[in-house]
Amino acid sequence: MPRLLLATSNAHKTAEVAAMLGAGWRVEDMRAHPGLELPEETGVTFEENAVIKARGASAALPGLLVLADDSGLEVDALRGEPGVWSARYAGAGAGDAANRARLKKELRALAGSGDDTFAARFRCCLALVRDGAVLHVSHGAVEGRIRLEEQGAGGFGYDALFVPEGYNDSFGVLPAEVKNQLSHRARALEEMRRWLETPA
Ligand code: IMP
Repeated sequence: MPRLLLATSNAHKTAEVAAMLGAGWRVEDMRAHPGLELPEETGVTFEENAVIKARGASAALPGLLVLADDSGLEVDALRGEPGVWSARYAGAGAGDAANRARLKKELRALAGSGDDTFAARFRCCLALVRDGAVLHVSHGAVEGRIRLEEQGAGGFGYDALFVPEGYNDSFGVLPAEVKNQLSHRARALEEMRRWLETPA
């Protein structure tokens, strides 16, 4: 069975990628390599950060296929913030709840008396690296709206605030199977899977 290391310690991301790739792949993440630290995300785009993470893990794991995900939320009313700073929106080391609280605070300051939802999208970039060489990069996005009321406890990050286009419930409420069909990560992974499964 082909083996893939996902360069993340985010168990939610790993669970999503493993579920989407299915039983034909053995997916592990940084929890299988406890001594190994990922480099700092110094890039200013999702692609730069995905490549930094994939290359960093690959340097310590010769021969292994390494996939890195860099992803985040862009809110139009905040000129694309939090973007690549999504994981650090409330400060370095901030948790998901603190990041959501900052987002709600920023948006409440802009909210009027009407429909207080805000156009937004999740973006994901995946970088596939072996022995330090970038083999392929893919991108995915899902459009939706941010609501100021949290809804549901599923998922992670900003899921409880994000309602994907065409739905009335947030990713925190929608079943994982639905998120894994239409998410930014699903779309980027679908393209990556097509590349992986195309004979050389
Ligand atoms: P990264 O681990 O540096 O790529 O940071 C990604 C951050 O973006 C996460 O910590 C979340 O805050 C946010 N994010 C990315 N993908 C998702 C998702 O599928 N749902 C909710 N939040 C997400």
